[in-house]
Amino acid sequence: MSSLVRANSAYRVHATSARLAARQWRYNSSVTTTRRPPRTLPAFSMENKVSLVTGAARGLGKEFCRAFVQSGCTSLALFDLDESEAKKAAKELTEMACVNSDVKKEDVKIIGVKCDVSSETAVQKAFAEVIETFGRVDSVVASAGIVENYLALDYPFDRIKRLYDINVHGAFFTAREAARKMIPLGGGSIIFIASMSANIINIPQPQTPYNASKAAVKHMAASLAVEWAKKGVRVNVLSPGYMATNITKTILRQDPERKKIWETMTPMGRIGEPEDLAGAIVYLASDASRFMTGSEMRVDGGYCII
Ligand SMILES: NC(=O)c1ccc[n+]([C@@H]2O[C@H](COP(=O)([O-])OP(=O)(O)OC[C@H]3O[C@@H](n4cnc5c(N)ncnc54)[C@H](O)[C@@H]3O)[C@@H](O)[C@H]2O)c1
Repeated sequence: MSSLVRANSAYRVHATSARLAARQWRYNSSVTTTRRPPRTLPAFSMENKVSLVTGAARGLGKEFCRAFVQSGCTSLALFDLDESEAKKAAKELTEMACVNSDVKKEDVKIIGVKCDVSSETAVQKAFAEVIETFGRVDSVVASAGIVENYLALDYPFDRIKRLYDINVHGAFFTAREAARKMIPLGGGSIIFIASMSANIINIPQPQTPYNASKAAVKHMAASLAVEWAKKGVRVNVLSPGYMATNITKTILRQDPERKKIWETMTPMGRIGEPEDLAGAIVYLASDASRFMTGSEMRVDGGYCII
C-alpha cells in the first residue's frame, strides 16, 4: 500500500488537470458554439435507433440516456422501479434533445416506464409497451443494479437474494426479452453494466455478493454472445470503476477517508465522472462496435491494471 501511496502522489498533478479537462468537456458539451455538427465517424450515430435503458431514472443509467440523446437518439425508453422519476427524466431528456439542435419536439419520443427488472413478467410487460410504442428495439442497456455493504458473516440472506434477483436475474430477464424482440428483426446490441468488481475485490468495503453478481453478469454476457452471435444480437459488458454518482458522492462526503483510499488505488488518481462513460456506451450501443461481442470494456481510471 505504501508504494501505491508514493506512486499515487506522482499522479496528483495529472489528476487535477484530468479533472479540469473533464469540467471543460462538460462545458463544451453543454454549449454549442457553432451550428455545424462536429465531424465524427458516422457509425457512432444513434440516430434512427430505438434504445432502452434499465435503471434509467438517475445515476449512470440516466447518463447513458443523455449520451444517446447527444448522439442523435430520438426514440428512447427509460425503465425504472421509480416510475415518477423515470417519467421526470424522460421529460428532461426530451427538452435536452431539442436544445441547440434542429430536432423538433414532435419528432422526439422518450418515455418513462415502470419496471422492476427482478420480475420476469414486469420486464415482459414493459418490453411489450416499448414494441407497441416504437415497433422495435435496437440497443438495450441493463444498468439497473444495487450494492450493499455487509460482512459476509453477517449478510442477511433475504438481502443477498434480493441483490441477485436484481443484479443477475434482472440482467438476464432484460437481455432475454431484448433478444426475443431483436432476433426476428435482424438483431441489435445489448450491454450489461457490470463493474470492475467483476475482476477485483474492492476495499475497504465488504461486498461479496455484489462482486460475485458482477462476475456472473460478465460471464453471462459472454455465454449469451455465443448463443446469439449468428442471430445478429451482440452482447457486451461495460465495467465502470468508482463513479461519482449522487449516491457515491453522499457516501464519500460522510466518509472522506474512503474517498482517499479509492483515489489512491486508482492510477489516474480520481473517481470517474458519469460523463466519462459516455463514449464507451455509445460505442457499444452503436454500429461502431459491430464486430465486437462477448467482450468487457473496463473504464476505471486504470484500477484493475495494478
Ligand atoms: N456508481 C458506481 O460507482 C458504479 C461502479 C460500477 C458499476 N456500477 C453499476 O452501474 C449500475 C448503475 O449504478 P448507479 O451508480 O447509477 O446506481 P443508482 O443507485 O444511482 O441508480 C440505480 C437505478 O436503478 C433503479 N433500480 C434499482 N432497482 C431496480 C429494479 N429492481 N428494477 C428497475 N430499476 C431499479 C433505481 O431506482 C435507480 O434509478 C449498477 O448496475 C451498478 O452496479 C456503478
